[in-house]
Amino acid sequence: MAAYLITGANRGIGLAIIEQLYKDEKNLIIATVRNQSTAENLEKQYPRVKTIVINMADSYAKFESAFKLIDQFTPHGIDCLIANAGVLGEDALFESQLYDVDQYLDVMNINVGGVAKTYKAGFPYLFKTDNGVSKKFIIMSSVAGTTGGFVLGANAYGASKAAVNHLGKQIAEDNKSSGNELVKNSITILQHPGHVLSEMGADVAAIVGDEKFVSTEECAIKLVKLLNVFTVAHTGGFFDENGETMIF
Ligand SMILES: NC(=O)c1ccc[n+]([C@@H]2O[C@H](COP(=O)([O-])OP(=O)(O)OC[C@H]3O[C@@H](n4cnc5c(N)ncnc54)[C@H](OP(=O)(O)O)[C@@H]3O)[C@@H](O)[C@H]2O)c1
Repeated sequence: MAAYLITGANRGIGLAIIEQLYKDEKNLIIATVRNQSTAENLEKQYPRVKTIVINMADSYAKFESAFKLIDQFTPHGIDCLIANAGVLGEDALFESQLYDVDQYLDVMNINVGGVAKTYKAGFPYLFKTDNGVSKKFIIMSSVAGTTGGFVLGANAYGASKAAVNHLGKQIAEDNKSSGNELVKNSITILQHPGHVLSEMGADVAAIVGDEKFVSTEECAIKLVKLLNVFTVAHTGGFFDENGETMIF
């Protein structure tokens, strides 16, 4: 059995990942969602899925308190933590002098702060039990965050994904030198999911065209397969949906 916790899992790529993992009855799946009614809907549709209600903008204290439910769902902790929740923000493809710059605090708070809080609050559960598997922390990043292979302006969104790549690198490097063997042998990945026709992706496709876009299901099939491909040798790397190395 493997235990997964995925943030932002009520729709889009997060939900599609749940649908793939759900096919294996042995998987224990915990989804974070933003409100109670969404949690109830998700549990109704997928009765084996457990939910935690948290907003990525909530305080760390709230994360810590909400994540205590993990112990009830799975006393041995989790094996894989997927920080998926995110927002695109406004004006993602405008010229930089036209950016709505007042949104930076919100987008950075959700896309970077939310990941940092997820990791810190999830840490005790991710590294709770040595069951012989390498523990994985997957951060849903984006090609929009690259600086080396710069593609398109993406306003606060691109900046937030560049920042979260830095956060993922820090975590991977810290963990490599940990005195705790479980932490030392863990795998932190920056994952670009591809161009995906979720609500977020549809907003971008409406501007750039949808030729390169795939369904959330196609995306999730690839990402779930990759979970079994990544090893300690990949930690700290930035990969696309085919497992190809991306330029930071
Ligand atoms: N789609 C793409 O082409 C693409 C490309 C590159 C990277 N990504 C990344 O992939 C991840 C998933 O994106 P998606 O395409 O599936 O987007 P999406 O369809 O817009 O779904 C976003 C998810 O994040 C949740 N979320 C947003 N703000 C939140 C907050 N403040 N607190 C808690 N949850 C929040 C949403 O919950 P609600 O339903 O409550 O809003 C939803 O579950 C994101 O990190 C995104 O940046 C996507």
